[in-house]
Amino acid sequence: MKVLLIGSGGREHSLVWKLNQSDLVSELTCLPGNAGIAEIANIVPIKAHEIEKIIKHVILKQYDFVIIGPEQPLALGIVDKLKDIGIKVFGPTQSAARLESSKEFTKKLCSKYNIPTAKYGVFDNLKDAKSYIKKMRAPYVIKADGLASGKGVVLPETLDGALKELEEIFSGKFGDASSKVLIEEFMEGQEASFFAISDGVNILPLIAAQDHKRAFDGDKGPNTGGMGAYSPTPVFNEEIQKIVMNKIIIPTVEGMAADGTPYVGILFAGLMITNEGPKLIEYNARFGDPECQVLMRRLKSDLMDIFLKAEEGNLDAIKELIWSNKPTVNIVLANNGYPGKYKNGSIIKGIEKANSKNEIVIFHAGTKYNENNNICSAGGRVLNVTSQADTLNKALEKAYEAIDNDIEWDDGFCRRDIGYQAVC
Ligand code: AMP
Ligand code: GLY
Repeated sequence: MKVLLIGSGGREHSLVWKLNQSDLVSELTCLPGNAGIAEIANIVPIKAHEIEKIIKHVILKQYDFVIIGPEQPLALGIVDKLKDIGIKVFGPTQSAARLESSKEFTKKLCSKYNIPTAKYGVFDNLKDAKSYIKKMRAPYVIKADGLASGKGVVLPETLDGALKELEEIFSGKFGDASSKVLIEEFMEGQEASFFAISDGVNILPLIAAQDHKRAFDGDKGPNTGGMGAYSPTPVFNEEIQKIVMNKIIIPTVEGMAADGTPYVGILFAGLMITNEGPKLIEYNARFGDPECQVLMRRLKSDLMDIFLKAEEGNLDAIKELIWSNKPTVNIVLANNGYPGKYKNGSIIKGIEKANSKNEIVIFHAGTKYNENNNICSAGGRVLNVTSQADTLNKALEKAYEAIDNDIEWDDGFCRRDIGYQAVC
């Protein structure tokens, strides 16, 4: 099968790496890809949000199957457009992708189907938002309704801070994403990312991972797209998974179908494991990044077969997936300054040396080749050093060894405490 994957991050590099192991895939292309993806697949220089260009390219190249990595093309309706021209595609339609692209949509679904989540109010004007927040307790949770590249959530500690944030948001801080604002109750607990795949009716549970969202050690600094992940995670045991499936995932898939927007694709539940049980923080309509990279290293089953069966509505033909039980970590190497301003174009060496170690697989994110054919930085998150070993400590030791001894890059940084919640 001729397969096209859309995206350019570490998530997509790990998906390409896994899809290449499938006998069902004869030719794999990624757009726009990155320097690492270019080593193992064809790449095409079209950006993921350039929907019309993508459609023309798909028609020209006659792909058999298209897989969507990031949220932006989903929210722009790429799946609907590909289906309209008869192309098989894995991912939710624009209206099903509202599970990620509109927080209000998801909150309403939760209310309608009794799915546990934080209490909330939605506001389209500053006055009402301010009077609601005055009745809440610190810390405050304020969210832009639409997609804001992971930056649309603020957690002020004081009422003054919260009121100031509201003023800034209603003055357009998050652009179009902030015409509506959600104010939520703060949920206390540990976070986990859980993934399931649905064909609209049937559900195939995957596994959970834990992400590290803050930029610096000890969960300090600004929120990022994610600075590292590990799996399995002790916070998410079999019992929690059962509750999450019964109270969150199954009612969501059934509710979406009952409401006429069946969900086909990856369902990524961001969860807070509270004392009252797991609650939904948010849904994403795609794999998590950096979580996907650890999932792909643990997955032993054929990924293409899963995507195909989901698209066909035959997911029930897969009885169970096979996973490695070995602890797996992903340490993100980010550009100095990320998630704020950073500079691109510095040369990175030693990736091959690191990759030659048994435990290690490096997935590229923001990388490209410069004019002298050197790999250089081209984004905020730049490399993902994944490592798998018999124990979590060993996996971490090997990953940090690769970062310290093999990879040569002066302009990057990483967190040194990935997996701290699980290290004995
Ligand atoms: P989101 O983009 O909705 O995942 O929010 C980003 C981060 O903000 C989450 O990963 C949590 O750490 C935090 N967060 C969001 N909503 C809440 C909430 N209601 N209670 C506590 N923390 C939250
Ligand atoms: N790692 C969180 C996300 O992909 O949104």
